[in-house]
Parts: sequence; C-alpha cells; structure tokens
Amino acid sequence: MRYNIFYDIMTKLWVIYMSLKNNDEFFKINQDILNNEKFRKLDCELHHGITRFGHSQRVAKCTFRICKKLHLDYEKATRAALLHDFYLDEDFTIEKQRQILSAHPNVALINAKHYFEINDMQANIIKAHMFPLNGVLPKYKESWVVTFVDKGVALYEMYRFKASLAINVLMIFVFNMITLNR
Ligand SMILES: [Fe+2]
Ligand SMILES: [Fe+2]
Repeated sequence: MRYNIFYDIMTKLWVIYMSLKNNDEFFKINQDILNNEKFRKLDCELHHGITRFGHSQRVAKCTFRICKKLHLDYEKATRAALLHDFYLDEDFTIEKQRQILSAHPNVALINAKHYFEINDMQANIIKAHMFPLNGVLPKYKESWVVTFVDKGVALYEMYRFKASLAINVLMIFVFNMITLNR
C-alpha cells in the first residue's frame, strides 16, 4: 500500500518535471515568435471560441510532443505549427473576408516569411495545414502531423466552446426560472 502511494507520488513528480522541462524547451524554441509584436496581436483574435494565439500554441505544443516522439524535425515543425494561423482579420479586406478559410494559409506564410526564416518544409506545413480544403498536399511527415493535429485541436476547441455555451445558456435559463417563481 505504502509502496503504491510512494510510486504514485514519484510518477507524478516525474511527469511534472518532464512537462516543465519540455515546456522550457518549447519556449526556448519559440521565444522570438511568442514575443513578436504582430504575433502577440493574435491574442485579440477570436478563433474556435478561444483566441488564435491560444489555438496556435495548443497546435504547436501537440506538434512538439508528437514530432519529438517520432524523431522528426520537431524544432522546425513546432515553429511552423505555431505560425500556421499567423494572420489577423485586418489582413483581409471586407470583400475578401469570405476567402479566409481557403486563403489564410497563404497570408500566414507571407507574414511568417516577413518576420522569420522559413525553410521549404515549414512553408509546406503552413500552406498545407488546411488539406484537403485548399488543395495543397502535405509533402513532409511533419506537414501530415500538423494537418492532423490542427483538425483534432479545432474539433476539441469547438466542442468545448459549444459545451460551455450550452451550460451557460442552461444556467441562465435555470436562474430565470428560479427568480420568476419567487
Ligand atoms: Fe488554419
Ligand atoms: Fe489552425
């Protein structure tokens, strides 16, 4: 019994240590991007019920873990994953707002190249992350990882957003029912 508790505590401490270690490496790899003035503005852009900054970080962190486990080029892939949605709504004119879904990977790549060094693999990761919607094929294993991770994260975020919205509406409804009956 004691052994189990001890083992449990040691395992948890190890997980915390590893996550802090990985986080540290994650921030070291992406420090310049996370401190970039334009990139910080993504924190004011709504995306899947959270901010585009939060979404991009979530995709990048998952990419970091998966690519590292698969012995892929996780540093380059993580940076590209962080930049995959690097656009502001103001980058699109009102007439072009409808094209955001298909055109934002190109705009994200233009922005990424403007501020950072981007190699061919990273360019493909950014351009192909909406595959198959915009017809650009992922050419690298890292591109496939990001396109799958982006979709998984988007589904999770949208589901979570809708679930919390439903709970809020339900709570307002219950509150109104209680106060009306008084
Ligand atoms: Fe996107
Ligand atoms: Fe995305």
